[in-house]
Amino acid sequence: MNKQEIIEILSDNTKNDWLFNKADKVRRANVGDEIHLRALIEFSNICKRQCQYCGLRSPNKEVERYRLSKAEILSSVQSAVNLGYKTIVLQSGEDDNYYSDKMCDIIKEIKNYDVALTLSTGEKSFDEYKAYKEAGADRFLLRIETTDKKLYEQMHPHASFENRIRCLQDLKTLGYEVGTGCLVGLPNQTIESLADDILFFKEIDADMIGIGPFIPHPQTPLKDTAQGDFWLALKVMALTRINLPNINIPATTAMETILPNGRIIALQSGANVVMPNVSIIDCRPKYEIYPNKAGINDDIKLYREQLEEKLHSIGRTISKEKGFRKGK
Ligand code: 5AD
Repeated sequence: MNKQEIIEILSDNTKNDWLFNKADKVRRANVGDEIHLRALIEFSNICKRQCQYCGLRSPNKEVERYRLSKAEILSSVQSAVNLGYKTIVLQSGEDDNYYSDKMCDIIKEIKNYDVALTLSTGEKSFDEYKAYKEAGADRFLLRIETTDKKLYEQMHPHASFENRIRCLQDLKTLGYEVGTGCLVGLPNQTIESLADDILFFKEIDADMIGIGPFIPHPQTPLKDTAQGDFWLALKVMALTRINLPNINIPATTAMETILPNGRIIALQSGANVVMPNVSIIDCRPKYEIYPNKAGINDDIKLYREQLEEKLHSIGRTISKEKGFRKGK
């Protein structure tokens, strides 16, 4: 689709059912009915950045900060592996405590298990990304958040849009599967820029795209801003599926947070991935990027069983594979 076509669909709410059905068909034809589960471990909420929307931004002094040791991380990995997870996602704030060698040591230990490993630890140097890759990391998630440079700069004080792009390019060059994505509903975000976001995903040939509505956090400068619209976020996701047919697309936690059943709706509108939180239960409330995050009290075993049942009820099954991008 070209930009104009995308804008037309995003601006017209009379054809939403058609769009969601079409994305669901494209999903089924290209990546099938299997859902890939990714076990998410939030291993540090310490962050040096100041993203205006995020509850973990460094100026937020009300967060009780934590960082997990290698042993604690590995214990969560072990529990996830025992439950059958085939991908581990390590996510954190931008925490320099996990310098390159320390991170590589953790990566190597995790790769002793038969799992794919995704990192989501923010902007690093080429050399650092290279070291992680050589240590065994398979994938990296780094959302562009928005491709509108002006908005990007408003939302990310002291950060550089160009560096964000550089990171994504480096990750591609190094042979990672690269995940990116955007927020939907940021203040001053336009439909045009959302169309550009989708075209950007295509242009960089992203392997995974995560899209979520913006949810205002009370301890951030955006606390009084309106929440992003679930249906608009879903439309951006569905259009992403149609334009990048064989990639992996998660039904994001933010979608589940603002609409009960949002995750299932997303899985029926183009998504094929779920990322259950397997972090130690005490840490979860402290990893509050936005409020009322879905799933923070779920027991990981029970959650997986219930999810499996729900997925079966909509005709889907849990994959036993690592779930790399199809046809690459
Ligand atoms: N609302 C929704 N999503 C958010 N993120 C950060 N803060 C918020 C918020 N307030 C998303 C960002 C980031 C991902 C880990 O969480 O897109 O990339």
